[in-house]
Amino acid sequence: MKKAPKTIESILAGYPRHPQNLIGLLQDVQAEYNYISPEHLALICDHVGAPLTQAWAVATFYKSFSLEPRGEHEIKVCLGTTCHLKGGNRLVEACERNLGVARGQTTEDLRFTLDTVNCLGSCALAPVVMVDEDYLGGANIHSLKKRLSKLE
Ligand code: FES
Repeated sequence: MKKAPKTIESILAGYPRHPQNLIGLLQDVQAEYNYISPEHLALICDHVGAPLTQAWAVATFYKSFSLEPRGEHEIKVCLGTTCHLKGGNRLVEACERNLGVARGQTTEDLRFTLDTVNCLGSCALAPVVMVDEDYLGGANIHSLKKRLSKLE
């Protein structure tokens, strides 16, 4: 059974009220909710006494933070040269059809975010798809569907 997310109040309570805790709080909220909502950003700023513009600058600078809802699972299809030549684009199109989202988007149920990347550094295994932290080499739509069906 999936555990309920921590409340924003309990995350804030874990940090003393000081501007140096801004990044730690952003990381914890990102980890718990997969993104940082405008409401959470404002609550974090109130808690640590940092201006909203500073928090926004930090949250948009680091790629590990998202101000848009992200899926519980991330699918990254490689479209680097080697993967492109081996059918990466067909894989993206199949994902878009099957998930009902365009690249860069998240499914309505917040289960999956579909992204493309330029090279995952495993060109010998092309085409490559990353599902969360796992590399799927020699990927095709069947192996990808099988991998996604194993996710909780
Ligand atoms: S081009 Fe896809 S892993 Fe390098």
